[in-house]
Amino acid sequence: MTSTAAQSAPASSLLNINALFDNPLFAGGIGLASIGAVAAFGRKGLIMAAGAARRRLLVNVEISKQDPAYPWILAWLSQPRPQTGFLASRITRIHNLSVSTTTTTAAMANSARSGSIGTSSSGGGGGGGGPGQTHFFLQPGYGRHVVKHKNAYIAVNREKHNTANMNTGEPHEVVQLTTLWAHRHIFEDVFAEAHRLAAKAHEGKTIVYAARGMEWSPLGDPRKKRPLASVVLDEGVKEGIVADITDFLGRQQWYVDRGIPYRRGYLLYGPPGSGKSSFIQALAGELDFSVAMVNLSEMGMTDDKLAYLLTKLPKRSILLLEDADAAFVNRRQRDVDGYSGATVTFSGLLNALDGLAAGEERIAFLTTNHVDRLDPALIRPGRVDMMVRIGEATRYQAGAMWDRFYGDMDEDGSARERFLRRLDELGLFGGEAEKEGEGEGGDEAIKGRHTSTAAIQGLFLFNKNDMEGAIEMAEALVPRKYEPTEAIPEGAIRTKA
Ligand SMILES: Nc1ncnc2c1ncn2[C@@H]1O[C@H](COP(=O)(O)OP(=O)(O)O)[C@@H](O)[C@H]1O
Ligand SMILES: [Mg+2]
Repeated sequence: MTSTAAQSAPASSLLNINALFDNPLFAGGIGLASIGAVAAFGRKGLIMAAGAARRRLLVNVEISKQDPAYPWILAWLSQPRPQTGFLASRITRIHNLSVSTTTTTAAMANSARSGSIGTSSSGGGGGGGGPGQTHFFLQPGYGRHVVKHKNAYIAVNREKHNTANMNTGEPHEVVQLTTLWAHRHIFEDVFAEAHRLAAKAHEGKTIVYAARGMEWSPLGDPRKKRPLASVVLDEGVKEGIVADITDFLGRQQWYVDRGIPYRRGYLLYGPPGSGKSSFIQALAGELDFSVAMVNLSEMGMTDDKLAYLLTKLPKRSILLLEDADAAFVNRRQRDVDGYSGATVTFSGLLNALDGLAAGEERIAFLTTNHVDRLDPALIRPGRVDMMVRIGEATRYQAGAMWDRFYGDMDEDGSARERFLRRLDELGLFGGEAEKEGEGEGGDEAIKGRHTSTAAIQGLFLFNKNDMEGAIEMAEALVPRKYEPTEAIPEGAIRTKA
């Protein structure tokens, strides 16, 4: 049926053309013109056909530098590949390389090397025992390369554009992968493998993001996860927070059903060196989260920058707002012209925590050394749900830290007892422990004395395998008071009124 219809149509049109050609006048003109036309059409047609063929036969994937997959793909490209035949190995040689160099200390170099991907070599620092190791990471440079994956050839084109990111000033960059249409499914494979490689490189690591310009960018290389057990908090404190956050993580649907934003905030306060930051980092590692850190006292961090950053919080990360009190100081101290310095204000912080800028899902940790400077408005569900004091070292903590450092040497725990008794004598647990029997309330000078877990760690680090040394030096834990020497007249420091 269709065939007869198809035949009848050209028959009639042929007839018209024949009539045209029968006319000698027309025939001559067309004859001349068509020579040129055919040549021109032929050329153009060829180009178009090539373009069409390219479009029909090839598949293109473009990955821009902004995309998280960009570094994964570069790492995947620079991975060593098995040599497959003479021709393939010639074609797929990468001639343009770019290098990114990281320097690690000797102790970390081994772990960094085993975790990294791509071609690497180390040098400097006088071999393994040197102070540092340099780690060269070769990537395909700008330009065109060909790689072979399984049985498909993939053309790679890495390009730098002459436009730049407005925020960071870095030029835009893309990498383009092209393969045959028939091999298009290879891309799924490539991306899966690139992602797997990246995940493997970050396995056992905690990524810490910091704000760079208006963007979150990893702060140095991913760090080795800090074991939660290595942070010694007072009895039950750690367990309490971990239980709360684990409960929260398992309750997303509960929040959704009730229309409550799925957020939880924690405030850790206490003196410096008590392990607040270390605990948060270890906790992130335990939960397999990364940390997105903002220092609120940092110059240049403004309310709108903070709000903007929070809308782009990296996935599966804990938001860490260090020095939360800075925002409150700013509220009180404004210059006469109303300028408060390029720092975050109180309302900026509240907006960050539960305003429109706050994401729907979020875990936030705030830390401060000056809880007295905070405003009660902060302690409200959704802003801060749980407040925990991480304080000066307690007897329990000092004992637990001792066990972590000297547990295997001090088998019967007798040295531990002597150490703790020495700390008691020095009055380092508040100067109350041995007061009872002493009638007059003991030595006034040591009353209310405390030390920090950071100081205890410092003492143990100084006396690495030397328990007795640690006990002998325990006096170093007594906080020193730095008072201005009387020899300096007042005017010498304050020169101007
Ligand atoms: N409770 C603790 N347990 C283990 N290490 C601690 C503890 N407190 C402090 N430290 C050590 O002291 C240093 C400073 O701790 P940090 O977490 O920065 O304290 P904070 O944030 O409270 O000022 C780190 O090297 C950390 O390992
Ligand atoms: Mg800290």
